[in-house]
Amino acid sequence: MKLAEKMSRIGTESAFEVLVRARALEQLGRSVIHLEIGEPDFPTPPHVVAEGQRALGDGWTKYGPPSGLPDLRASIAAYVSRTRGVTVGAENVCVVPGGKPIMFFAMIALLEAGDEVIYPDPGFPIYESMIRFLGAVPVPVPLVESRGFSFDLDTLADRLSNRTRLVILNSPANPTGGVIPKGDLIRMAEMLLGRDLIVLSDEIYSRIWYETEPSSIASLDGMLAKTIILDGFSKTYAMTGWRLGYGVMPVWLADAIAQLMVNSNSCTASFTQRAGIAALDGPQDAVASMVAEFGRRRDVMVNGLNEIPGFRCQLPAGAFYAFPNVTGTGMRSKDLADLLLNEAGVASLDGAAFGRHGDGYLRFSYANSLPNIQEAMARIRKLSERWAKVQTG
Ligand SMILES: Cc1ncc(COP(=O)(O)O)c(C=O)c1O
Repeated sequence: MKLAEKMSRIGTESAFEVLVRARALEQLGRSVIHLEIGEPDFPTPPHVVAEGQRALGDGWTKYGPPSGLPDLRASIAAYVSRTRGVTVGAENVCVVPGGKPIMFFAMIALLEAGDEVIYPDPGFPIYESMIRFLGAVPVPVPLVESRGFSFDLDTLADRLSNRTRLVILNSPANPTGGVIPKGDLIRMAEMLLGRDLIVLSDEIYSRIWYETEPSSIASLDGMLAKTIILDGFSKTYAMTGWRLGYGVMPVWLADAIAQLMVNSNSCTASFTQRAGIAALDGPQDAVASMVAEFGRRRDVMVNGLNEIPGFRCQLPAGAFYAFPNVTGTGMRSKDLADLLLNEAGVASLDGAAFGRHGDGYLRFSYANSLPNIQEAMARIRKLSERWAKVQTG
């Protein structure tokens, strides 16, 4: 017996693989600073934990409706309406175990073999994995470093075809920290409005931004009817392990995703959803202080990276990743990531793990303490004598 052919087309997330290698080094007694991780290093806010515990005690331990508890769907609809400046109702909301299932379900629901999907490169690796898995055609659009890692809009226009069924946007973005400027979203909406396609707008980092609040393409005239907003609790409320996310979309799509939930998970864990209501409707000060701390770390990390010979790092506008261009080191980014891990005990990710256009970059997460970030920068600086020396002679 062998695996189905489509399994040969499925990809993975290298963050998990690097974590395993880093942990193996730690087992050998080596010190490793983890800058490969994609989850906030903050605890889930205590009032949210308390609500989850209370819900367990109160018997929220059974199946619930496939699309989510009505109260949570209503809270999400109100939250998305006020944060995106749109009007959506509970009927537009699908609650699922994490943000990721929205990608999977939306693609299963919409794509036929041969349909084209546009997505950012470098981008979250699961987009391409799922596109290939479903037999659709991946159409990556490069992100441009000098544009704050947004698309070149002429390239985007060129890549659209009458086979394009889905356009994936991610802002603020993993792995670049880029935020799509509102002006770009307006031009994109003009390009997309007349076409028979859906936009999957991955807004999982929507609350983690520094200078300018990101806009959602869904808020532009006519776009709500053709957009799926993906968001969730993992990053905003440091709830990665609770597995709680959602999509907001037109009802015909929400109904399709509810069917996929019936056929896969039945429902999302009920006590987790109760905690989700507390997260959205309760005090938001934990989010504000987490983002403020991310902001301080971002500045320290980006300054530190820019002092390393051969590194050039843009100031990321959102999320908690720095994405320096490391071509100036003269090394392949993959080899450099390995060197940093093995010789300096600093775990990062090769940008090429996020697509061909990520080659030449590294992703550093600043979901780690300021002292650890400072120590990591010092270690890399010390190690940089090696490549700086090779280059100077
Ligand atoms: C861009 C992006 N979308 C979605 C997700 C998935 O989030 P979740 O853990 O809620 O499934 C991640 C997680 O790393 C992400 O970086």
